[in-house]
Amino acid sequence: MKEFYQELDNYIENLEDKKNDYKVLSFVVDELGYLPDEVLNYIAKKMDIFPFSLESTIKFYPKLQKARTKNYVQICTGRNCIQPGLKEKLAELKSEVDFPIEERHCLGRCGKGSALKINEEYYSYKTLEELEKLLLNLK
Ligand code: FES
Repeated sequence: MKEFYQELDNYIENLEDKKNDYKVLSFVVDELGYLPDEVLNYIAKKMDIFPFSLESTIKFYPKLQKARTKNYVQICTGRNCIQPGLKEKLAELKSEVDFPIEERHCLGRCGKGSALKINEEYYSYKTLEELEKLLLNLK
């Protein structure tokens, strides 16, 4: 992580527009895949801006919003993927995990088992128990 902060410092120092927080946040997403709280606090101090200002920028751009948590989960509830009890299981899981679980009508993976996507990776599951285990084991 120390190396990452050095790269981040260099990136910020070489920015033409020193207040372009979108570029800095995008850099973090490209490097780490998500936006950890500690990095946001570091950027706020380094760029001398308020953390809530960074949150406003994040809310404005879907790419950044998706990366706000380490795990961004999308579950297909389309007709090729839905299983009896899936909606109830999702309601239960949403209250147990600290990352967003979003329902989608199709993830473009029809016919390969019930589909879900975690960040940029696609997965499939056969049973709701398998799905639950997969999501509860995400760190
Ligand atoms: S309906 Fe689930 S991936 Fe298409």
